[in-house]
Amino acid sequence: MKELLAAKGGKPSIPDGTVKPWPPIDDEDRRMVLSSLEGTNHAFGPNCAAFQEEFAAWNGNRYALTTNSGTAALHMALVAAECGCGDEVIVPAYSWSSSATCVMQHNAIPVFVDIDFDTMNIDPNKIEAAITPKTKAIIAVHLHGLPADMEAVMAIAAKHGLKVIEDACQAHGAKLNGRKVGTLGHCAAFSFNQNKCLSAGEGGMFVTDDEDMYQRAQALWSFGEQTAPTGRRDYHVYAMGWMYRNSDLCAAWGRAQLRKLDGYLAAQRENAACLTSELAGVPGLILPTVPDGYHHNWYNYTLRFDMEALGHAQDAPSFRDKIVSALRAEGLETGIWQAFILPAMTVFQAKDGYGHGCPWNCPHSQPVDYSVEDFPVAARHLATHTGMTTPLRAPNGTEVAKLVAGAIRKVMSDLDQLS
Ligand SMILES: Cc1ncc(COP(=O)(O)O)c(C=O)c1O
Repeated sequence: MKELLAAKGGKPSIPDGTVKPWPPIDDEDRRMVLSSLEGTNHAFGPNCAAFQEEFAAWNGNRYALTTNSGTAALHMALVAAECGCGDEVIVPAYSWSSSATCVMQHNAIPVFVDIDFDTMNIDPNKIEAAITPKTKAIIAVHLHGLPADMEAVMAIAAKHGLKVIEDACQAHGAKLNGRKVGTLGHCAAFSFNQNKCLSAGEGGMFVTDDEDMYQRAQALWSFGEQTAPTGRRDYHVYAMGWMYRNSDLCAAWGRAQLRKLDGYLAAQRENAACLTSELAGVPGLILPTVPDGYHHNWYNYTLRFDMEALGHAQDAPSFRDKIVSALRAEGLETGIWQAFILPAMTVFQAKDGYGHGCPWNCPHSQPVDYSVEDFPVAARHLATHTGMTTPLRAPNGTEVAKLVAGAIRKVMSDLDQLS
């Protein structure tokens, strides 16, 4: 006999309190944060300088600047890549909002390219059609922790003389053919926001191996000055600047978490592999793809529902929402990661960032088209996905992954109860 779903009054598959919260905090975190607190430099201090060095060494970059968010690091990357007024920057049509709004922050114009359904990353086959004489850079997002097809992206960029910015905000430790993200393009941004694989509450890191890019990013980062805040400053503004530096307390916590990051990533990989094997063959599910040579960090384990097979092609989003509600009733923390594809967001449809239509009506820019029907793959992904993070993160182990699989199998085996 089939079990009654929790949404219909049955017993939840995952009892309350089973899933441990993210990130795990231990005495090392407490010691590092308290020692920063008890120090005398709470702005950009010794922990910030050390965090930059340690993260650069961990990731294999020459230069790193710690920021107060991943979005700040992305804006710095735009400036490092010399993108400015009226320049166009190619961005995948499905990502976090600031993968695109960072472009506008320097008066440049985002141009969207559809994603590949299997990898959920930018479709390299569609990039060249979006390149114009105004294109300056491509932002390759490693969505949910799977590297974008950087070999194809870098080849296109070399052919057209473009810079490649990696949005690695979700992808700490992900690799392509043995090389870590953040070392594959010309520069990259990482996030240390609460939900990320390396969490320091908030924060980010700009990384590059290129000295000129580093200098330009550094100027934007600290008021348009040319000297690092630990050096002898002349307090002179040489270029347009923001204040994107990190605080010593966040950097202290980031350093403590960095020491444990490889262990966390190994646990995530094991949990994701366990879930994939437990869900193999469940009708109506499309499991995540990991092409050969790709090393996923499993920041977000994203499932898609095969709405054609389930007979719900016409009402995919609402039927997906019913499945997600039923999974949540089973005690599974899962949900829609982004509710809109990027070009459908109001700021792009209205083409108004700074008022008066700026930057789209800037005399240096040319018209761009944000018709949402040009991104059918991103729209299909949007309508059929659900994702999860915490249940597959340390300290949760494969025993939790098995409960997660049980919840999903239970709901998928009796979707009639949702009708
Ligand atoms: C792909 C992607 N890019 C950029 C960001 C921005 O990072 P932050 O929240 O640290 O500004 C995020 C954060 O969610 C993200 O997921």
